[in-house]
Amino acid sequence: MELAVSRVHLGARVLYVVIMRDITDRRRAEERLRQAASVFENTTEGIIITEPDGVILSVNPAFTSITGYSTEEALGQTPRLLQSGRQDKAFYRRMWESLLNEGHWQGEIWNRRKSGEVYPQWLNITAIRDAQGRVINYVGITWDISELKASERMKDEFISTVSHELRTPLTSIRGSLGLVMGGVAGEIPDRARNMVQIAHDNCQRLVRLINDILDFQKIEAGKMSFSVEPLDLVGLVQAAITENQAYADQMGVRLAIDAPVGYAWVVGDRDRLMQVMANLLSNAVKFSPEGEAVTVSVERRDSAVRVTVADRGPGVPEAFRRNLFRKFAQADASDSRQRGGTGLGLHICKLIVEHLDGDIGYTAQHGTGSSFYFELPELRRGERPPGDGEPAAADRLVRDAG
Ligand SMILES: Nc1ncnc2c1ncn2[C@@H]1O[C@H](COP(=O)(O)OP(=O)(O)OP(=O)(O)O)[C@@H](O)[C@H]1O
Ligand SMILES: [Mg+2]
Repeated sequence: MELAVSRVHLGARVLYVVIMRDITDRRRAEERLRQAASVFENTTEGIIITEPDGVILSVNPAFTSITGYSTEEALGQTPRLLQSGRQDKAFYRRMWESLLNEGHWQGEIWNRRKSGEVYPQWLNITAIRDAQGRVINYVGITWDISELKASERMKDEFISTVSHELRTPLTSIRGSLGLVMGGVAGEIPDRARNMVQIAHDNCQRLVRLINDILDFQKIEAGKMSFSVEPLDLVGLVQAAITENQAYADQMGVRLAIDAPVGYAWVVGDRDRLMQVMANLLSNAVKFSPEGEAVTVSVERRDSAVRVTVADRGPGVPEAFRRNLFRKFAQADASDSRQRGGTGLGLHICKLIVEHLDGDIGYTAQHGTGSSFYFELPELRRGERPPGDGEPAAADRLVRDAG
């Protein structure tokens, strides 16, 4: 309760007027403000509040200790004060697009402290709007993620060291076992041959696994080298089928191609795309019932070329589809024992295809088999290098007709 007393003179008399007001609401509001101010002051996340044009209105103590700039130095500046030069213009354009369209942006960003040190942080910006929907402030909340990044880097380095150390001796064991089986060390008895065969197959599997781990580590770290060139996807698919025929034969599955387009030019890395095809084909074959066919089709869709690998196997359960392209994901935990594999193949395919500005996905109904596709932007004729595998006139006619 708030009391206000005033003295009023009425001629010779003096009146005291007492006004009583219930201020519970105001107290609550003040309390809430105090709590908010306390969070602002004491949290370990840096907080920065700006005008709509980016001019800094307020920063909290955590901001000053993370960046090294005092409140006085920060006020009136814009967050450009912290720019490290590590992000390009396109990065900031995307950030502003997201802020203007969705009122929100979050992501990793490299900033520069007052000391000059460049550090990674996680930044979360939200636009604050008034009742009319106009932006009145932006609030940015940041975390210093240097330590997190350092431990991630250590983990990555550890994995690649271990993989390299394992791969070299394993490759040599596999080579020796291959030679022994080939009879280089003399004739071997049947029972021994069987065991050597098992050892050789398992070595082969381990080498594949280690290569996969190295591959995705490299792609994720942006260190895998891609040598891109214009190439004809129809030709590549044919080559991939030939290369994977032996595995299909072994599993009693037929491989068929359906490519009415004759040729389809894209920009890609031949070896990496063969790797994508090898995984899609080996998955399709390994899940196909014996005697069934796996069909690979190549078709044009708008300005892209789509390769689809379809099988007549059990399909992918609905609930698992969104995990298909994650690393180490397998629909059935017993897959790795029953059918081999580690669940890395599709993850690597996705990294490769996306690196080439393409798209990869799954399109089939449960129970009617699986159908995986990947798509790459098609190269128009003018963009292909003259004389470098320019398709024959007959192919051109097929294409122009289609
Ligand atoms: N054609 C398919 N039919 C049914 N399930 C599939 C098919 N392709 C992939 N899957 C499911 O997706 C999982 C992941 O496939 P992925 O290629 O990533 O790994 P993997 O084949 O198990 O192992 P790896 O490719 O690393 O040797 C498979 O284990 C399987 O559960
Ligand atoms: Mg696979």
